Parts: sequence; C-alpha cells; structure tokens
Amino acid sequence: MTDSEWWKSAVIYQIYPRSFQDTNGDGIGDLKGIERRLDDLKALGVDAIWISPIFPSPMADFGYDVADYCGIDPRFGTLADFDALLAAAHARGIRLLLDLVPNHTSDQHPWFQESRSAQDDPRRDWYIWRDARPDGSPPNNWISDFGGSAWEWDEATGQYYYHAFLKEQPDLNWRNPAVRSAMLDVLRFWFERGVDGFRIDVLWHMVKHVDLPDNPVNLDWTPGQPDYTRVHQLHSTDQPEVHGIAGEMRAIADHYGARVLIGEIYLPVPQLVGYYGTAEQPGVHLPFNFQLIGAAWNAPGLAKMIAEYEAALPADGWPNWVLGNHDRPRIATRVGAEQARVAMMLLLTLRGTPTLYYGDEIGMEDGEIPAHLVQDPREIRDPGIGLGRDPVRTPMAWDESPNAGFSPADPWLPLHPDWIARNVEAQRGDPASMWRLTQKLLFLRHEHRALALGDYHPVDAGGDLLAFERRYEHDRLLVVLNLGDTPQGFAIPEWAEDFTVLASARGGHDPALLSPNEGYILG
Ligand code: GLC
Repeated sequence: MTDSEWWKSAVIYQIYPRSFQDTNGDGIGDLKGIERRLDDLKALGVDAIWISPIFPSPMADFGYDVADYCGIDPRFGTLADFDALLAAAHARGIRLLLDLVPNHTSDQHPWFQESRSAQDDPRRDWYIWRDARPDGSPPNNWISDFGGSAWEWDEATGQYYYHAFLKEQPDLNWRNPAVRSAMLDVLRFWFERGVDGFRIDVLWHMVKHVDLPDNPVNLDWTPGQPDYTRVHQLHSTDQPEVHGIAGEMRAIADHYGARVLIGEIYLPVPQLVGYYGTAEQPGVHLPFNFQLIGAAWNAPGLAKMIAEYEAALPADGWPNWVLGNHDRPRIATRVGAEQARVAMMLLLTLRGTPTLYYGDEIGMEDGEIPAHLVQDPREIRDPGIGLGRDPVRTPMAWDESPNAGFSPADPWLPLHPDWIARNVEAQRGDPASMWRLTQKLLFLRHEHRALALGDYHPVDAGGDLLAFERRYEHDRLLVVLNLGDTPQGFAIPEWAEDFTVLASARGGHDPALLSPNEGYILG
C-alpha cells in the first residue's frame, strides 16, 4: 500500500475540542489540551484525529458558524498553538484532520457583513438572497434543519436570506465562482500548513436547485418529529452540481498528495455512494457512512445492511463506518453498556475506515443536562423531542481528580455523573475495561492486514449472531458477535477450527457458545 492511501488502514478519532482537555482554566477545552493528550491517544492506538471546528466563531453553533476560515478562535488558542499541535501529532505518527464548514459562514463573517450591507454590494450574490412573495412571506417553504423557516427577513435591505441551519449561519451561494475560489483557497491554506485532510461539513447541502422551488410536503409528518422533516429536502439538498464541487476539492487534495477528504452526508446508500464520484471525476475519499448510528440493533438487520452497503460501493470506493459523533446519541446509551463492547468490536472489525467518537472508548453515556444548563441551539429551537446534542458533548473524563482532570474550572457542560468510576485512568488499569478492549482491537487492526485491509465475507451463524470472515492473502480471521442478551451456540466453520481467541468482548473463552453480549475475534 502506498503511503498516499494511509487513510484506508487508519482509525480516525473525533475530538470535540470544547470538551476534550482544558489547559487555561476557562472550562472550555483548547489546542494545548489536545496536545497534552496526544500520548494518551497514541497509547490507545489511534492513527488520526479529526477536530471539530476551531476557527474564530461567535459560537452560535459552537464553531460550526465560522467568522474567519484561516484563524484560530482565541478560546482554543493561537495559530502558533495549532502549528505546535500539528508538529506534535506528526512527531507521534498521528495525522490531523480539520473540519471544513463550506456550506455556510457565521453572520459575523466579513463576507456576510458586506453582503447584507446593500442589495448592490459586490458580495450580495455570495449568499442566497431573494425577494419576499407578494404577501410578504418567504420565497419558498424550505425549513431549517434546526426548525422554523429557513429564510430570514433582512429589514435593512428588504430581502430574505437562506440559512439551512441557524439564522446566524447564512448559506453561501456555491453557484458563484468567486465563492468557490475563496473557499478552495481555504483548503490550500491549511494543506500548506500541513494538515492531512478535512471532514467536510454538510456536503450534501452545498448546492440548492437553481430555481429554489418549494420542497414536496411530507404527508406522513406528525407532531413530535423534527420540524425540518415536514418537507422532503428534494430541492434544497443533494443537487447534481455538488459533485463538481467535491471534484474540485478532491483535485486540490490530490495535488498536495496523501491527504483525505471525508464528507458529512446523511443520505440513503444509493445516493451516498454517488459522493465517491467517478473514475473521471473522483469525489471525496470517504463519504461518511452513518448507518450504524441509526440502525435497529439486531443481527439479521445489521448483516443485511452491511451486505447492501458492500454491494453498493463503486469499484474503487473504500468503505467506512461510524458509531457516534457530536450530533447523535452515544452508542452506550443506544445499545446499553454491555452491548456497546460488541458494537466497538463490530466497528473495529468491519471492512473500512472506522471513526471513533471521543469518550466511546470508555463507554461514556449521554449526560443529562438540566434545563438551565442547556447550550445547544438545536434543543432551544426545537425543544423536547430529543434533538439536543449537549448530552453527547459532555467533557472527557480523564481521571478522578476534580472535574475528571478535564479542567481546573467548572466545565462549560456538566460531566456525566459517573466520571469518578468511568474515566481513562481507571480503565487503563483495569484489564476488563472498555478502554483496554478498544486498545486491544486497535492493536489487532495494526497487527493484521486482514482486519485493516482484508476482504469481507459473511458467515452463516443464525439467531442473534453476526459472523464474518476478514481475509488478506493468507491471513484469515473470523469474527463472531452476539447481538443479543441470551447465550448463543455457534457452529465454527471447518476452516477456522484450529483458530484461537485473539480478542473477546467480555473475556470469554468459548466461541462455540457465546455468552450474552459476547464477541470474539478468532485467528
Ligand atoms: C453538521 C455538524 C453539526 C452542525 C451542522 C451545521 O451537521 O455536524 O454539528 O450543527 O452541520 O453546521
């Protein structure tokens, strides 16, 4: 394998920087904190980190509202801190990915400030401005992903502007070549500094239908479902022209070499795989595959999902899997503490690049955020139906010192109350812990090409069992997972009869009879 394809065998670890490690005592994590924790990440075995946005931002959406794409928010540090972090990561063989937010800027970005200053401002067309309908209502029925109309009336210049998220996050007009070229320069800026790639925020949102027609109304919508699902986002997302943009970004990444682009895309598999692009015009290297985040957690369902995804991949498309991120409930909360171990084993044995969310390696669960401490604008705008993301963004629990070693000050969000028992230091010392299991799995991925790069072949198992082979040349491994909470017998295939247990999710020794929530890697 050439080094330019390091991302195929790598394990990516997502850091939500506000919540990882504070060093300056403001209760918010920072870049120096990430640097301080690199050795812990190295000990765990991660190959690359992706850091959620660290650019100057009014923090209306905690950094996903960028006011300057080429700087560092003072809350997180300075450009010098960033350079030091990057050098320190590289010195340890850890690659670093940034989070590019090209669909929208902050309303405080100078581009938007100029754009909103007058209808004839040269930057007016950098954003999506439209007249009101004759009755004064918004130009169409599009709904913000965070609830309410996606159009905001601007009194001063007498037009509406479009925002797929908060009104503080106006959408850029990617049909304007000047916008393209300015944002592509941002990629170059960070590539020149040495970053190894980008996770691209809401890639499928970037281009809208040129005529901005009404979206079809969702006739099945019922109260309690997210407001934005009142309409199908047919015309506001996933337009064919987006692939040209992904292609331009890819060409820049390829120019620098050995870089990776990962697209955040929430779409059904047939559309998702389109974001790999074609041989003539490659798209992103990895269109994020979020299926494990939403999947019903049972063996036949997961087996079918894996098979369908594998079958849908284009010839050169490399798969990837994600169990959690800063927007969705944590895996340990979704499937329970015991099954979370099986889920980790699944994530780290499937074919494709895995992305781990910080805290999942110690089995962190969603925190409970009292009403007066709610921070997430999504919860504030569309409350009470479980959309709030604060619970999955609580500070990392490092040790049993005050505030779990996260910060000397009160953290910006409360720690999960179980941190005294559930923290990295405690788990590093406990051979049966989730951290140690994760470390072992990452070690095996580095040890066995079959796990990192091998083929995937399903194995018949039945009941609550999910089994598959991973094979790379002569290296063959068998993975069998009990997705249920009853014991399950497993007929070990002949070719694996002599295999020994390389790892087990719960410390068992008998792959012919799996305890509840047990899983094995045999080889
Ligand atoms: C992405 C981010 C999310 C953010 C949104 C708007 O979905 O993951 O956190 O709120 O984009 O930028």
